[in-house]
Amino acid sequence: MPGRTITAAWQSAKGARARSAASSNPTESRPATGAAHLPFNSGVRHEHKPCPGSGRVDRPGRRHGAAAAAAETPPAATVFEEDGSIAQSLSGAPGDPQAGRQTMEARGLGNCYACHLVEATPDIQFMGDIGPALHGAGSRWSAAQLRGIVADAKHTFPDSMMPSFYKSAGFLRPGEGYTAKPATEPLPPLLTAQQVEDVVSYLLSLK
Ligand code: HEC
Repeated sequence: MPGRTITAAWQSAKGARARSAASSNPTESRPATGAAHLPFNSGVRHEHKPCPGSGRVDRPGRRHGAAAAAAETPPAATVFEEDGSIAQSLSGAPGDPQAGRQTMEARGLGNCYACHLVEATPDIQFMGDIGPALHGAGSRWSAAQLRGIVADAKHTFPDSMMPSFYKSAGFLRPGEGYTAKPATEPLPPLLTAQQVEDVVSYLLSLK
């Protein structure tokens, strides 16, 4: 299978580079300053409040809706199986592959193409090769496995440098601005539950 070959090649050839780049990965080391994070600078740590619409700052593409929010699993309550997969839909709703493609492309959301090549979208310029090409991902992985990889790849690939897209606490970060104090948690996840489901449904279409 071509995808396997690419993955294996990546592991041997890119391993050292990926690991050295991990320490300076800007997406994973998220600074605590910035307008989008201000509502969380309350001094309260390790407490997750999944309250849709309660004054949290909207990120682009964030979808609110009473029906969707009702069945949503917040990041802190997400259950990973032993192999790193997540069995249940995080939003309680099916994903939209076209919305998923856009979420993957958007720099402020998935920005997946910075590290991954997708043969199905040759119109996207400057695709990266830090991670394996995603062609065939829908054949290599199940929906549950892809959901786990997108939500928090470290459960599937220990020490992965891939950002954790559905995670709100437990980041290694440099601290609060220049104050040398630890940053305040939780941070909003990089993607919403529905955006993760959308991305998973697009990945499943890459056969
Ligand atoms: C900073 C680079 C980076 C970004 C950004 C990134 N990934 Fe990854 N991804 C990786 C690496 C590296 C791997 C290989 C596994 C590992 O980490 O050891 C990987 C593995 C994967 C795999 C499994 C690959 C396979 O064998 O089929 C999938 C699927 C995947 N990523 C999807 C995504 C999606 C979707 C996004 C955006 C929402 C994304 N990645 C963003 C670096 C990245």
